[in-house]
Amino acid sequence: MAQELQDKVAFITGGASGLGAAAARRLAADGAIVVVNDLSLDAAQKVADEVGGLAYAFDVTNSNAFNDAVDDAVQKLGRLDIMVNNAGIAPPNTSSKMERTMNNMAKRMTGDIAALEPMNYTVDLSDEEWDRMIQVHLYGTFYGCRAALRHMTPQRSGRIINISSVLGLYPSAGAPHYSVAKTGIISLTKAVAGDVAPHGINVNAVCPGWIDTPLLTPFSEQMKAGIVMRIGKGRMGMAEELAEMIRFLAGPESEYCTGDVYPVSGGYAG
Ligand SMILES: NC(=O)c1ccc[n+]([C@@H]2O[C@H](COP(=O)([O-])OP(=O)(O)OC[C@H]3O[C@@H](n4cnc5c(N)ncnc54)[C@H](O)[C@@H]3O)[C@@H](O)[C@H]2O)c1
Repeated sequence: MAQELQDKVAFITGGASGLGAAAARRLAADGAIVVVNDLSLDAAQKVADEVGGLAYAFDVTNSNAFNDAVDDAVQKLGRLDIMVNNAGIAPPNTSSKMERTMNNMAKRMTGDIAALEPMNYTVDLSDEEWDRMIQVHLYGTFYGCRAALRHMTPQRSGRIINISSVLGLYPSAGAPHYSVAKTGIISLTKAVAGDVAPHGINVNAVCPGWIDTPLLTPFSEQMKAGIVMRIGKGRMGMAEELAEMIRFLAGPESEYCTGDVYPVSGGYAG
């Protein structure tokens, strides 16, 4: 039986781990030829070998390297059908403010707002942290859309799937830079979708909730437990569950979906 994504070529950034690796496996399972990008060639190659695809190591903030890799993949594989802009980073060492957070939560529960200690999330954010977060997520996603469209527009077909976050919908006080980058990805998605919708190309954003991947390594167990309490389903999501949404947006079932935003959050409401 023919598979839905037979002979389609997919390019996934940050595909060596977590959601990207799960998406690579899911798209390949339905017949796609998958190109895996990540910072480390060894790590990208491992997933590429597993799914029978190609690997490219580059930093998504390098637009020339991004264009070169996409061009090279298209030259080797003949086309580009699916671009998943997924590479991402988390705010480092998020658990360092845990004790203060817990103390403040206790004070909030007694209504003692005046006694709350300042968290200084914004004051403590360095220029470098701000820049890197915006560059990896927002610049990287823009570079990925542009690199893909240079091939998809003449082809008059394609699917671009940008990985935002529920924090792009419900900004987090603890991560202003991450929240802004992820909200920016939603705006970029809608703008680009309008640009290319008449030419057979769909562009959508997926907003994962809290998913159990290495991205959450900086979070302490206590912090994760606090997050899970705010998830309706009572657990974090699995990368494979997100991959199902990516597969839907990559396939023929989502023909009428473009410029749209898809949370997969297990009932997390910020
Ligand atoms: N895990 C979650 O709870 C969660 C929630 C919402 C959104 N997301 C988003 O999902 C995407 C994937 O995250 P994940 O949870 O699978 O994390 P992950 O850490 O498991 O995987 C991210 C991958 O991206 C790669 N990467 C990072 N910076 C890169 C760069 N500049 N160039 C190329 N590759 C780079 C990393 O090396 C890593 O392999 C990210 O955009 C993340 O912000 C994750």
